[in-house]
Amino acid sequence: MQENPAPRAVWSSKLGFILAASGSAIGLGNIVFFGANAYKYGAGAFYVPYLLALFFVGLPFMAMEIGLGLRFNRALPESLHLIAGRRGEFVGWWGILNASVITTYYIAILGWVVGMLIGAFGPLWKPSLAVPAFNMAEGAIPNPFAYFFNMLSTPGTLLFVVLAWVLNIIIVWKGTLTIEKAVKVCVPLMWVFMLILIVRGLTLPNGSQGVRLLFTPNWGVMRNPDVWKGAFGQIFFSLSLGFGIMTAYASYLPKKSDCNSNAMMVSFLNCGFEFIAGVAIFTILFSLSIVPKASTLAMSFFVLPSGIARFPYGVATFGVMFFTLLLLAGISSSVSLVEALASSVIDKFRISRIRALLFVGSGGVVLSLLFALPMVVDASLKDNGTLGLTLLDLSDHWAFGYGLLAMGLAESILIGWVLGAGKLRETMNANARIRLGPWFDVLVRFVAPAVVLAVIVASIAHEVKTGMYGSRMVTGWRPMAAVVLLAWLLFTSGGAFLLSAPQKGKGVRA
Ligand code: PHE
Repeated sequence: MQENPAPRAVWSSKLGFILAASGSAIGLGNIVFFGANAYKYGAGAFYVPYLLALFFVGLPFMAMEIGLGLRFNRALPESLHLIAGRRGEFVGWWGILNASVITTYYIAILGWVVGMLIGAFGPLWKPSLAVPAFNMAEGAIPNPFAYFFNMLSTPGTLLFVVLAWVLNIIIVWKGTLTIEKAVKVCVPLMWVFMLILIVRGLTLPNGSQGVRLLFTPNWGVMRNPDVWKGAFGQIFFSLSLGFGIMTAYASYLPKKSDCNSNAMMVSFLNCGFEFIAGVAIFTILFSLSIVPKASTLAMSFFVLPSGIARFPYGVATFGVMFFTLLLLAGISSSVSLVEALASSVIDKFRISRIRALLFVGSGGVVLSLLFALPMVVDASLKDNGTLGLTLLDLSDHWAFGYGLLAMGLAESILIGWVLGAGKLRETMNANARIRLGPWFDVLVRFVAPAVVLAVIVASIAHEVKTGMYGSRMVTGWRPMAAVVLLAWLLFTSGGAFLLSAPQKGKGVRA
């Protein structure tokens, strides 16, 4: 068995890995999705499922994905191949392809962040323009909502999406070397900006009321399986689990690394950031009596900016800071997605990094542009507005809502049962100060898969009862819901089938 192929790049220091891994984990998910999810699912009550998901699933999976990278020194598909042959590799590719769907819309969103950042230097805070495509009249006050949809329905915005891709490719150009340089700037800076926003939020009149709301439980909602799916999805997404990222990043760690402390450090940095981001967002929104809409994109693109527009001073400064924060957090996350994809392609096809990046980048740009299509399909904005946004919403429902959980389930079965949780635990404990006991095996073999499966089953049942997601969309666009579901299944499963086929004449594997 070839467990250690050609020498692999390594992070120059433990700090490099921690910055890169926490940079991946801390992203748009922490700043906007968490606050929006927490609000949507009953603010305080969201913490119970969230913390359960963190301790029973998030932390063990983080350790497991890092352990896999340390043990096999390969990206996810090849690591799983070493565990379960072609079937394992199929699962690995399935996860990578599902992640690539998320990557493409994540980068489209990042393109919009670039557009809003440019707007934040001035035009965003001017009285709003009319937006004919959306039946929006001109207004006397700044209206980030109008600005955002105006931008979205303008073809020029596609350029921002291309720009976001170019930035990503430049950062992963030399792998760990260039990623490390970028995260050393992005990650500390985003903590600084976040702390400044928190102080601003807490010192606004009545800001503390927002904090109270964030922690006021609403137990009634906990009977709704969506809340649990939301919490588990949030933990997977936020910790960048089920994407093959932590395995790819950990495969660049020196063999002697302490798996468990790395896993804990990354998880706590991520959840700590999420927690303070929640405080910043709720204080800003509630001081200015803006009740956030449930939609996550709405939160970052116009609900919060509307709050900032009402600051007593420094509107443009805080606005620019907010969108820069989103850009820094988003880019240090998206590069990890691009890297996980590229390293899987490099490991499998043994092609040069440049060729892999050109391949991933060109395919990625095309898909991202689909999510940014500016054609208006719903001028009343009852649903999503543009064609791109509608596609994004539908894809996100499957790739994020179900794909990540399905990957978690498959990983725990492959590691817990096929490899044997005990074996991976040996690798994880090898250089660890905090050693995991046999309880970890029970968690990986029984608890984690049972919990994740229960969440998936309950969600599907809910879906069947209430009609498939998207089936209540504006008339005329309903069939698209089914098309997107089929396209997602075909892309992930068909693609994984083809990619996991043995490569003639390339490296012999076990
Ligand atoms: N963890 C990131 C966030 O919270 C999202 C992400 C997932 C990024 C997976 C990269 C990989 O926004």
